[in-house]
Parts: sequence; C-alpha cells; structure tokens
Amino acid sequence: MAKQKLTPDVIVRIEKSGNRYNAWDTDGVKRTSEITSGCRKNAYNGGYLLGRFPSTASKSGFSWRKVSDTIMSETSSPVEETPSIDVPSEHTEVLNFIHGSYSLKPKGLMMSELKWKYLIRSAVRGKNIMMTGPAGCGKTMAAKSVVNSLDRPDFYFNLGATQDPRSTLIGNTHFDTNKGTYFSKSLFVEAIQTPNAVILLDELSRAHPDAWNILMTVLDYGQRYLRLDEQSGSDTIKVADGVTFVATANIGNEYTSTRVMDKALMDRFTIVEMDVLSEVDEASLLTYMFPNVDTTLLTNVAKIANLTRVESKSETARITSGISTKNTVELCGLLYDGFSLEEAAEVSIYPQYDDTGGVDSERTFVKQIVQKFCDDGSSDDLFNEEEMATAEETVS
Ligand SMILES: Nc1ncnc2c1ncn2[C@@H]1O[C@H](COP(=O)(O)OP(=O)(O)O)[C@@H](O)[C@H]1O
Ligand SMILES: [Mg+2]
Repeated sequence: MAKQKLTPDVIVRIEKSGNRYNAWDTDGVKRTSEITSGCRKNAYNGGYLLGRFPSTASKSGFSWRKVSDTIMSETSSPVEETPSIDVPSEHTEVLNFIHGSYSLKPKGLMMSELKWKYLIRSAVRGKNIMMTGPAGCGKTMAAKSVVNSLDRPDFYFNLGATQDPRSTLIGNTHFDTNKGTYFSKSLFVEAIQTPNAVILLDELSRAHPDAWNILMTVLDYGQRYLRLDEQSGSDTIKVADGVTFVATANIGNEYTSTRVMDKALMDRFTIVEMDVLSEVDEASLLTYMFPNVDTTLLTNVAKIANLTRVESKSETARITSGISTKNTVELCGLLYDGFSLEEAAEVSIYPQYDDTGGVDSERTFVKQIVQKFCDDGSSDDLFNEEEMATAEETVS
C-alpha cells in the first residue's frame, strides 16, 4: 500500500559553531530555536538535513525529521557561511545594538535594563566580564543568557567542579605503545583559538588557585596567551581575535568555601554585579514562573525571602545569608507539586541554616519567619503588627 508522502515545508542544514549546532534554512533564516538541541546534534553528526513536517501529534503542529536524499538534492541550495550575529563595527550600529538589546534578555531572567545593557556592552567591547553576587542570584543564568544573545561560538567550563585545572585548561599527556608519549589538548585550548568565541568560566571564585595562575596570561589584555608548560620548550597558544571571557564569582561574606581571589586576577575583569531581587521583582518572577500557584502564596514566599535578606544585611543580623532566588524558585516548585509552604520550607530552606544553638540558632530564626506565613490567613497581619511593634520600640 502506498503511503501518503509528506513534504517538508522548511528544510534546514545544521552547522557547528563552537559547541553549538545552528540550523539554517534554505533562505538563510535561522531556525535553531525551533528544533531541539539533540535533534540538531544528531543531524549534524549524521550529516543529514532536517525537514519540518506537519504533525498532529505535536503542539506546535509540526515536527522536525531527517529528510531523505531525494528531497535533499531537489530542494537544498547551498547555504552560505553565515557568521552568527556580527557585532557591528560602525559606532552607531554598536550603539543601536547595545541600546536595543534589552529585548534579547530572556523573560525568565530578572535583571535591570541598565545591568543587562552594561553586560552586553562589555561583551561587545571584548572585555573580560566577571559576574559577581551571592549564591543563587542568577549569575550563571545571566552569563548564559548573554552568551546566547550574542550568538557567537560559545564554550562552557565549570571551574568550580574541576579537580584538575591543568587537564581542563591545558590538556593531558598520555602514553600509547604505538605513538609513545603524546599530548592531547583540552577543549579550552580549542576554545581560545576560536575567533569571536564567548568563553564562560563558571564558578571561577571556587576554582583551584592553579587555574587562576594558568588564566593570568590568558586574561591579560597585553598578553593573551596560554602557556603549555606541560610541553617541552613551553609553547604558548595565542588567544584568537574577538574572544570574550565571561566569568562568575560568588562574592559575599556568607561563602566561606570560596577562596579569596587574587587581586591581580580580579583586576583583569570588568565587574558586573548581579543585584539581589527586591520583594516586588521576586514576586513577579515567581508569578511569571508559576502561574498555576496561588498568587498570595507566591507573594508570601517573596516576603519571607525579603525579610531574611534584610535581616542578613542588618547590623544586628541573626542570620548570615538571606534566602536566595534559586531557593525561592525551588520552594515554589514544591508548592506547585502540592507541598504546603511549611513542608516545602522544611525540606528546601531549613537545611541551609545552621541549627546549633537551639532557640538562638539561625534555623530557628528562619523557621519563625516562615511560620508567621503558615498559620492561617491572618498571619500576614500578625507579622506586620509585630514588626510595627519592633519598629516602634526602635524609634522610642
Ligand atoms: N535574577 C534571576 N532571575 C531569574 N531567575 C533567577 C534569578 N536568580 C536566580 N534565579 C533562579 O535560580 C536559579 C539558579 O540561579 P544561578 O544563575 O545558578 O545562580 P548563581 O549562578 O548566581 O548561583 C536559576 O536557574 C533561576 O531559576
Ligand atoms: Mg552559578
């Protein structure tokens, strides 16, 4: 029985750019965001084109599948090499790009327009960028978002997770019975040799000091090379033109596990400080992310977080750090899955606060704040009354 033959209405070719697989259709229109990354990667590795077919099974009304050779030869026209969004060279174009860039910020990332534009501007101007702020305030998310909006070849390295900076940043020496001793270069070496690459150095503040030493010359605007001191003669590798580094660092007194970064290293970066969200911004982020969760509940979570943040900053702070946005998002995920506020806080928030000292412990303090929002509908007022009482005491 002859099957009805479906024809795709769009055909794309996959191109590799850095560690990204971009999809370009025959008109040169970029379709990357319409296709899952796994599908693009398979197509690239398998050397085939993808076609968009109508599909009733999918919400979007179509699905992307491998297209057969006959269709390929009929419809595919050579897609010219398209370098991702060129960073415009004319000054007016640069200005327009920077000042129109707020629309590139993902909706789910809360960041002020000024900070976002400063971030984009620093990247466009080829600065080494360091995103700073306390844990869970969106540094990694913002760094990844800026990398995505620039649409240049990008590479990601989590330096906080590597035990062996030398092999991550330089490479490894191996021995093979046939080849003898040979050196295999790291992905980082490939990254810095890729013109216009954007290289994300996540958790740089937690990296091993060896990593900082290796990066010193790489990041220095006057040097820009990597020394392969593993190899004889200590060869160096030049950083390609247009490479931008974006690092993240937890800077905050609460992070004792963060090694104190060398001043010389810090000096090599333009600092972009991520703001901790205000109560209003926190609430609007949570309502945007969890439209199905009761708004009052979400507003209360924002209030709780804010109270802990204000407390941690006060002179007489009884807790060393406030609840982060990362934590409120996790907590609301639990609310969405049917846990009560009390339960959600117990598993996701309390364990982060020290319980030594019993009633005077940090954990007890945070529990008390949460409890005020747990009792019943009147809890809100109760807290405010108490707060007002405290405020009055302070005034008198
Ligand atoms: N400013 C923010 N806007 C939106 N979501 C945020 C923000 N800050 C934190 N989050 C949420 O917390 C999660 C973890 O944030 P992350 O970027 O990993 O923080 P950091 O790198 O500063 O520790 C994000 O995936 C996101 O869900
Ligand atoms: Mg991070």
